[in-house]
Amino acid sequence: MPRINRIGILTSGGDSSGMNAAIRAVVRTAIFHNVEVYGICRGYEGLIDGQFEQMYSHSVSNIIQRGGTILKTARSQRFMEREGRDIAYSNLKQFEIDGLVAIGGNGTFTGAGIFDEENDFPIIGLPGTIDNDLYGTDATIGYDTAINTVVEACDKIRDTANSHERLFFIEVMGRDAGFIALRSGMAVGAEFILVPETTTYIDNLTRLLKHDWRRNKTSGLVIVAEGDDFGGAYAVAKKVKEKLPEMDTRVTVLGHIQRGGAPSAYDRVLASTLGYEAVNALLDGQRGVMVGIINNKIAFTPFEKAIKHHKDINLQMLEMSRILAL
Ligand code: F6P
Repeated sequence: MPRINRIGILTSGGDSSGMNAAIRAVVRTAIFHNVEVYGICRGYEGLIDGQFEQMYSHSVSNIIQRGGTILKTARSQRFMEREGRDIAYSNLKQFEIDGLVAIGGNGTFTGAGIFDEENDFPIIGLPGTIDNDLYGTDATIGYDTAINTVVEACDKIRDTANSHERLFFIEVMGRDAGFIALRSGMAVGAEFILVPETTTYIDNLTRLLKHDWRRNKTSGLVIVAEGDDFGGAYAVAKKVKEKLPEMDTRVTVLGHIQRGGAPSAYDRVLASTLGYEAVNALLDGQRGVMVGIINNKIAFTPFEKAIKHHKDINLQMLEMSRILAL
């Protein structure tokens, strides 16, 4: 097994809080092992454009508490093409980089898998996405912080919903997965949680809402994952209003506030642990895997499985949250 002397690190896809803590851990663990580290700016875009810069211990001072990513990020179209990936590979060779740590989500690992197959290049992935939709880890970096942000926002909305006796439809992120909606919905005592994993029946929703109001509920929060099959909070609210015109309804789309902000303590510890383990894994000759934590144990999952294997939401929790909101 050839020794790894120099590694690259990049963040790619949607940013998430805790990415900086992961970068810090990767840089410092590598330096501890006498391995040089190059930061690659703007994800795969920077890999193609040769935006490489050597990082030192002081390069990552004072970032563990900062949201976003100091390396910047992008969703690269060019890396989806063979031509882009070939340029990326020749840049890595030119900088004599022997291995890569890629922090991101589905798109990042899809690209990493193809790149390794074509070029026989060791890459270790770290799960960095607020969506928590990667198989092979109980939580992704940024998920916990996003939940806390949603909870804080919903608590504020609950105050005004109560004062005005209104029904709010709050849209949270999650294109394909309802993890954010489910966990934050449970935490704020939402009346309903709508997720992409289950079919939304509007007739059923309106019937239950009517029932709630008859029993003297005077405010409500319906958390809608952006990827809900019915079409997001505006679509759901419009349909409900048609059927229950007497209800005073409002819509709030929380949007990108869910992606930013200082990482929670949980995300800082998760990101630091995974960053440390990623470097050790590369040095041990591991490749083509995502590092995660399952039941408090470090777990390595091949990219293909992390992306394609479906991570199920806890449907029991959905039912429980409804019972608790009665
Ligand atoms: O994948 C993370 C995520 O925040 C999704 O929840 C959301 O649908 C998407 O990214 C938004 O992407 P962008 O910031 O590119 O609009």
